[in-house]
Amino acid sequence: MIIAIDGPAASGKGTLAQRIGGHFGYVWLDTGLLYRAVARDALAAGADLEDGAACARAAVALDAGTLGDPALRTTAIGEAASVVAKHPAVRAALLDFQRQFARTPPGAVLDGRDIGTVICPDADVKIFVTADVEVRARRRYEEYARRGENVTYDEVLEIIRQRDARDASRAAAPLKQAPDAVLLDTTGMDIETAFQAALNIIAHVTIGRSEAR
Ligand code: DC
Repeated sequence: MIIAIDGPAASGKGTLAQRIGGHFGYVWLDTGLLYRAVARDALAAGADLEDGAACARAAVALDAGTLGDPALRTTAIGEAASVVAKHPAVRAALLDFQRQFARTPPGAVLDGRDIGTVICPDADVKIFVTADVEVRARRRYEEYARRGENVTYDEVLEIIRQRDARDASRAAAPLKQAPDAVLLDTTGMDIETAFQAALNIIAHVTIGRSEAR
């Protein structure tokens, strides 16, 4: 069973994917961490983030054991990740790892931008999670405030707007809803409500498929 959860920054897709994985006993991968780790390693190597070949070298050498690094969660690394993610060679270097992970039995939940479109086009369930940009900015701002990051709500809103534009306008695997993904708009939902809505979507899609057989 493969569940693909895509959506823009701070849509709540990571929290949802983690809870869905826990609920069904499936492994979970936050694929944004791969791009964040590549950005971290490229910066540490002194690479120019606009240099696709240099970033791809960091992607090829990536040690997946370092994905738990708390430094990956900062605003600066998120921004840098969005830049390295536009290079096709970086995306190509991370493809096999994600596809192999997706095949972990008995099931896997992957969240990102291109899981339903590029990484796992045959995923059993695809959910595209979104929310109004102001709501996403508020959630992300509160997360940063809890962690003591020195950033204002307006700055977070601007960063998220720019990130949405960059992730959706790049040529390689842009952020977009797969035609067969179900849209889940979490504006006005708390996490519990969004989680129940996601479980309903999963039940609906999987029951619908077994009835069609
Ligand atoms: O989900 P996140 O904020 O951790 O992702 C960081 C950046 O990584 C995001 O701006 C774009 C990129 N990314 C991507 O291009 N494809 C994915 N599947 C996941 C993330």
